[in-house]
Amino acid sequence: MSRVLTGIQSSGKPHLGNILGAILPAIELADAQKEPAYFFIADLHALTTIRNKDLLREYTYAVAASWIACGLDTERHVFFRQSEVPEVCELAWYLGCLTPYPMLANAHSFKEKSSNLAEVSAGLFTYPILMAADILLYQADLVPVGKDQKQHLEITRDIASTFNRIYGETFKLPEPVFKDEVMVLPGIDGRKMSKSYNNTIDPFVEPKALEKCIRQIITDSTPVEAPKDPEKCTVFKLYSVVAPPQAVEDLRQQYLRGGLGYGQAKQRLFEALSERFAPQRERYQELISDKNRLETILRQGAEKARSTATATLRIVRERIGTGALIPTPFPR
Ligand code: TRP
Repeated sequence: MSRVLTGIQSSGKPHLGNILGAILPAIELADAQKEPAYFFIADLHALTTIRNKDLLREYTYAVAASWIACGLDTERHVFFRQSEVPEVCELAWYLGCLTPYPMLANAHSFKEKSSNLAEVSAGLFTYPILMAADILLYQADLVPVGKDQKQHLEITRDIASTFNRIYGETFKLPEPVFKDEVMVLPGIDGRKMSKSYNNTIDPFVEPKALEKCIRQIITDSTPVEAPKDPEKCTVFKLYSVVAPPQAVEDLRQQYLRGGLGYGQAKQRLFEALSERFAPQRERYQELISDKNRLETILRQGAEKARSTATATLRIVRERIGTGALIPTPFPR
């Protein structure tokens, strides 16, 4: 029995790369377990970058709607907003008191920004502690994350071991699960698809907008008649991850043979994308235009998460000596 858990920062609307690389594999991993998984929108972590309340809510809803549209079963799994379980902040404080300064100073997330310390908030510096609290509060076994989160998982395990050593066995040591990226998904400019490069594809937009986005994909200037190298073409690379294998093979042959223009290839990609994501797009649009529904789903998830969280904290408080001393029920 393994409990899967992951957090998704609400710092943008999920794009094709997030959907294929993170959302779908995490849902698959969750569905393969007997135990319900814990998935949450890390809006407290998002505060390290977002300081606009409307934007934060907008992204929170976009993330929630994307996960549900991609098939996350919110009845079976526990899907919630991090900030609706404030217990995580209390645990983060306890864990922070066990975290040596150099461990945080060595974290990549901090180091990258450390050339301009005036810009680094305490929240950014202690980001790994809150993440450790996220994971340990729910006693997770498996944590699907990107490779960039490897160090954060190591920190989590370090802190958990320290706690267990000082106060007695309390926390499970979580295992990261990395999706072995066969290929980095390219964005419309050919570089890795990323919000920060502004080169993303959003499969949930209206078909017209999607078509326009696909037409902007940068290709080389090989003439229509000439043979083309599929492995060097962004259009083909994208097509190969969304179209059925036979269709991918057909397109590969046409590239190699020549006579197929990039415009036609883009049209195929557009059709494959809109077909592949048609039901998801519909569900996404339905949800995103019904904020009350999303709020209800998240609130119900938070209630479930909270009962696990309070159970863990009761034990933690007792072990470290905070909170009211719980009287033993019978005189000893
Ligand atoms: N830091 C993670 C990321 O940027 C998001 C996150 C927050 C997370 N809390 C977590 C991931 C707990 C896994 C477990 O991707």
